[in-house]
Amino acid sequence: MPHRPLVFSGVQPTGNLHLGNYLGAIQRFVALQDSHDCMYCVVDLHAITVPQDPAELRRTTREVAAAFMAAGVDATKHIIFNQSRVSGHAELAWIFNCVARLGWLNRMTQFKEKAGKDRENASVGLYAYPVLMAADILVYRATHVPVGDDQKQHLELARDIAQKFNLDFGASIAAQGHVEHFFPLPEPLIQGAATRVMSLREGAKKMSKSDPSDNSRINLTDDADTIALKVRRAKTDPDALPSELEGLEGRPEAANLVGIFAGLSGRSREAVLGEFGGGQFSGFKAALADLAVSKLAPIAGEMKRLQADPGHIDAVLKDGGERASAIAVETIAAVKDIVGLLR
Ligand code: AMP
Ligand code: TRP
Repeated sequence: MPHRPLVFSGVQPTGNLHLGNYLGAIQRFVALQDSHDCMYCVVDLHAITVPQDPAELRRTTREVAAAFMAAGVDATKHIIFNQSRVSGHAELAWIFNCVARLGWLNRMTQFKEKAGKDRENASVGLYAYPVLMAADILVYRATHVPVGDDQKQHLELARDIAQKFNLDFGASIAAQGHVEHFFPLPEPLIQGAATRVMSLREGAKKMSKSDPSDNSRINLTDDADTIALKVRRAKTDPDALPSELEGLEGRPEAANLVGIFAGLSGRSREAVLGEFGGGQFSGFKAALADLAVSKLAPIAGEMKRLQADPGHIDAVLKDGGERASAIAVETIAAVKDIVGLLR
């Protein structure tokens, strides 16, 4: 029996949600909700793998939940919640810590980037971060995971963990009466024209929450004037826009802006070049600024409105957490039986 399709994804409450988070993840979350059951999680346990100020963590947790709703996720039809509310994530993560191999984690490029030179001083949590991510998905036995390009390796690890668990406990899984593999192998959905949005200041650097330059990113909280200004100031090169995709090779800044235009408008990059190819950047940037303002400013406005009532956001997270828990407890009970943990 194939596993029922279920979408799961997570975003860390670490401040400065930006256009990359929107195009790579949140916009896709919205697109999937008409065809799938979806669970969107504010991954606060992932955030604390590096130091967080408690009051700020509470604020950014509500902010990310507000961003999901402001972008259009329907919290009554789908589930929005924060990770730490559902104990099954941490429980399954421990069991997966015993399934995942050191060698697998040693290959994770994001840990190497985040830990930097002082690896000895990184938290154990930061190292085990991708194992918790696998648990997030698999505690619901979710099958589809919309993420940006940078999460591809973590998703491969989640598949490896699911597969090894299914294999290692194969006999016990069958003995417990499960007809097929216990865990599905979750599929990454890395879709759209902008799965890797780059910095507006340096075309070789990913747009990121932690970039010290605020001009490098468009924040989801930026107002219309700020959005337009950042687009106009975005780094470009002196040539005109090409009419074909090949003409973007070796021009990372131009390629990035074309990808952003395509992502925001829902058109292909080819179509965007068809309209703007041959023209100067000034005209293209003016059109991009208008587009970005028309798509993003209403989200910022709605986020502000929602954040003025934190009680409502908390109620949404609590309700989502309860519905998520109901699914997670079933998986945890079955996993305990499979592994041989008395309950
Ligand atoms: P994070 O803020 O690291 O929790 O990321 C949340 C989601 O946004 C993940 O699915 C990421 O892959 C995605 N994401 C983050 N940065 C970018 C980017 N520059 N371009 C596209 N997607 C991104
Ligand atoms: N690691 C992801 C990121 O930084 C966030 C995340 C945590 C996630 N758990 C997840 C994404 C489960 C998808 C599924 O972007």
